Amino acid sequence: MSTINLVTEIPGPKSQALNERRAAAIAQGNAKLTTVAIERADGAAVHDVDGNTLLDFAGGIGMQLIGHNQPAVVDAVKDQAEKLIHMCSIVSTYEPLVELAELMNSLAPISGPVKTTLSNSGAEAVEAAIKLARAHTGRDGIIVFEGAYHGRTNLTMGMTSKYALFKKTFGPFSPEIYRLPFPNLYRKPAEMSEEGYVEWSCQQLDNAMISQIDPAFVAAIVIEPVQGEGGFLPTPPRFLEKIRQLCTDHGIVMIADEIQCGSGRTGKLFACEHYGVEPDLITVGKAMGAGMPIAGVIGKAHIVDAAHPGGLGGTYSGSPLACVAAIEALKMISDPAFLARATEVGNKIRAGLEALQAKYPGRIGDVRGLGSMLAMEIIKDQETNAPDMDSTGAINAATLTRGLITIRAGLYSNCVRFLPPLNLTDAQIDEGMAILTEACAEVLG
Ligand SMILES: Cc1ncc(COP(=O)(O)O)c(C=O)c1O
Repeated sequence: MSTINLVTEIPGPKSQALNERRAAAIAQGNAKLTTVAIERADGAAVHDVDGNTLLDFAGGIGMQLIGHNQPAVVDAVKDQAEKLIHMCSIVSTYEPLVELAELMNSLAPISGPVKTTLSNSGAEAVEAAIKLARAHTGRDGIIVFEGAYHGRTNLTMGMTSKYALFKKTFGPFSPEIYRLPFPNLYRKPAEMSEEGYVEWSCQQLDNAMISQIDPAFVAAIVIEPVQGEGGFLPTPPRFLEKIRQLCTDHGIVMIADEIQCGSGRTGKLFACEHYGVEPDLITVGKAMGAGMPIAGVIGKAHIVDAAHPGGLGGTYSGSPLACVAAIEALKMISDPAFLARATEVGNKIRAGLEALQAKYPGRIGDVRGLGSMLAMEIIKDQETNAPDMDSTGAINAATLTRGLITIRAGLYSNCVRFLPPLNLTDAQIDEGMAILTEACAEVLG
């Protein structure tokens, strides 16, 4: 039985009316990627205001990893709402706050004593991580990479790549941020081997410690083990190891930004576990809240404790409602059976994407990712590998009119990314892939 059930065109009249109200009432800067207005959701199915049911392969940009409106989360939030909606962790202590931090500490792949600080959004978590790295080291410098996305606050915008979409007209940005090349294997110089290219990228890191900043002034190197917005690029293992080594050698804090790639998406609870590399701090967010606004930094206790009392947190950070949601989500995600399913879903979707790539080799340049964090890169032709943003948007639009929500990613906005809720069934994967196949035939065929 199919999940998708369309009773109007997409978008239907009620969605269109809401879109018009949204456009009149809400800043255009808060852009939207699709034209459907959603009323309710469960698992991987979303129901719009016109009575259509669609399949969601975007999962709230990865947040609905355990599925929309997961009953255990809904119950926990309802229950907590009846007891205590808000107290403010600056004013007082409550059990869910402590329980969540204890759980996060127990799950983190970091040796020795571990502590956590909670915030409302991923960007705030990244900011907190930078505060901790600076307070711990007494240094200012931050190293980030091309293609990185770390958020939309002023500091995290400065750390983010992709100027036109995220940064234009918003400067000046925070000083002491140094951006280095990221080894994107798909776009390596043709004459270099993959190994040679990664080695060259490592040398660029060493070189930057002379040409750009002395390592004695670097507080943190921040890296997404799998780049998210940048186009689902797994960091080559040697490069991540090199960063670890540099950080160890020079007393620099290694921060793994796992806000998109963490929380089980890749088949391990933390993406850095695939590499056997231990960061000093890990930023987490999105899927850990199962839809509630919560994020955090987990890390070595002496670094997390580097900020003075009062230097971290805010009115809502560690909200009781968000904490109980995150406790349920993390318990579910950390179950080995759940993580195994993440890998299984990834393998199944990857096989579908690779079949499509074989059909359109000149238009689908790359299929990549880790576990169930997958993307396909759309190009104009194989000779130039020129990014094709328009066809990517057309594929997203073509899946949507057929009832499948997909969104884009990538430095060149030319990747279709897949972040489905992981409690979707095999039948739902097949249904989604069949629609994607039709959409590719329409746009690339
Ligand atoms: C790797 C990464 N870091 C930070 C952020 C910012 O998170 P938020 O949107 O919750 O502020 C994101 C969001 O997409 C992200 O993918």
